[in-house]
Amino acid sequence: MFRKGRLLIDGQWADATTGDRFETVNPATGEVIGEVAHAGTTDVDAAVAAAGRAFESAAWSGMMPSERGRLLWRLADLVEQHALELAEIETRDNGMPVGLNQQFVLPNVIDVLRYYAGWATKITGVSSPVSIPGFAHHTRREPLGVCALITPWNTPLMILAWKLAPALATGNTVVIKPAEQTPLSTLRLAELATEAGFPPGVINALTGDGATGAALVRHPGVAKVSFTGSTEVGKEIVRASADHLTRVSLELGGKAPSIITPDADIDAAVEGNLIGALFHSGQICAQYARMYVHTSRLDEFTTKIAGAASAMVLGNGMDLAAQLGPVVSAEQLERVTRYIGLGVGQGATLLTGGERAVDGDLAHGFFLRPAVFTGVTDSMTIATEEIFGPVLSILSYEDEDDVVSRANDTPYGLVASVWTRDVGRANRLAQRLKAGAIYINSLPLQDPAAPWGGIKASGIGREMGWEAIEAYTEVKGIWTPLT
Ligand code: NAI
Ligand code: MG
Repeated sequence: MFRKGRLLIDGQWADATTGDRFETVNPATGEVIGEVAHAGTTDVDAAVAAAGRAFESAAWSGMMPSERGRLLWRLADLVEQHALELAEIETRDNGMPVGLNQQFVLPNVIDVLRYYAGWATKITGVSSPVSIPGFAHHTRREPLGVCALITPWNTPLMILAWKLAPALATGNTVVIKPAEQTPLSTLRLAELATEAGFPPGVINALTGDGATGAALVRHPGVAKVSFTGSTEVGKEIVRASADHLTRVSLELGGKAPSIITPDADIDAAVEGNLIGALFHSGQICAQYARMYVHTSRLDEFTTKIAGAASAMVLGNGMDLAAQLGPVVSAEQLERVTRYIGLGVGQGATLLTGGERAVDGDLAHGFFLRPAVFTGVTDSMTIATEEIFGPVLSILSYEDEDDVVSRANDTPYGLVASVWTRDVGRANRLAQRLKAGAIYINSLPLQDPAAPWGGIKASGIGREMGWEAIEAYTEVKGIWTPLT
């Protein structure tokens, strides 16, 4: 597979004005698998202008909600027909085992598109009971305009769907900017969207790097930025948004606590936390990154999870036997390895893994054996900073009040998990933990009906659910004299 990618601007595929291109690499093999256009500021201007024209055009702004819904549904059908192809493109670009892309990512993408296809005809306002005599008042939810959708490399297609589907269902137009590590699935989705029949300019796609993203964020023609990525860049986007008061939704990092209580079903907790920590080699913002295990169950939990982690099969994601793929890039390999070194240096005990896998073909890719640390304390860097790699950190606790305050003592607040058989304890902890989503005895699941997003440094706003409809609309109030 070698793919060449161009920019989608106003329904036309074009090279960057500068002619610049960049390569994308398969992290399992180190091979260059594609070359795409590198959009510069001129291309950003053209894409935003095209999206602005499309927003005002009768073809889009005059389109009935039912037709917008039908277009989204048609796109979902096309994604379904090309699900295997898209899963394979994604696996070759981001390393995730293809089975996970097929069983988890693609079904979610299709469901999200269909969920918002349904919403297109259900975006209602209210009739407001104003007390001014002789007046009626009602509200409408109107689209914002041009939305910049900036996505990361971990699950590019899925995160794109979370933004694209509600943005289009509500009548906005978009300029998409995928991460430089993983541009290919976004370009294929943009092709399918064109085939589905979205009018030219409604969906524009620019491949490029952080500078491309930054130019898009600063552009006065952009009404809203929806960003998923690092907290550092999220903060930069908020600063840049001040000039034009651009609307911003952010889904940023996490450092999720997972509390394994004395009465937990340990085998279920081991399995759930293993997957919660190592899904996609730990490169998810919801990763269960801090496991607080009650001292009475610590040895049992630690022995079992370390055994299970060390037994996981590393391999090229295209190989169906692979349970863990590579990390996404040489840079990420270096970054995660540095954190593992800090864990050892600061006195945590590395029970297994943590080294680069170099046997056979693995030597060409960016493979790390999953690291299991025990004896981790709250102030260690591996317990405070987001690692975004195959690293499990086990901490211990005695007292419930104490573990709640330790779990909450983080700048992040995306998700938290609780493992217990006591329903009262489960709900008590769910109420006390500070995060956007709490998972009781479960993995960090995703569903289009469940709002998704974090508090504090984990972001601003929610994706999915009705909340995303709110995030892509403004409320207009209309006053009518009754005389
Ligand atoms: P990043 O935040 O730099 O990149 C995410 C996206 O933002 C990419 O499309 C990138 O091109 C774009 N971007 C970069 N700088 C920008 C700017 N100034 N303005 C607008 N767009 C910009 O993330 P990076 O460097 O790839 O990963 C670093 C760390 O960030 C990871 O190790 C992880 O801890 C965290 N991260 C969190 C993610 C999440 O799902 N919340 C996803 C990816 C990374
Ligand atoms: Mg960066």
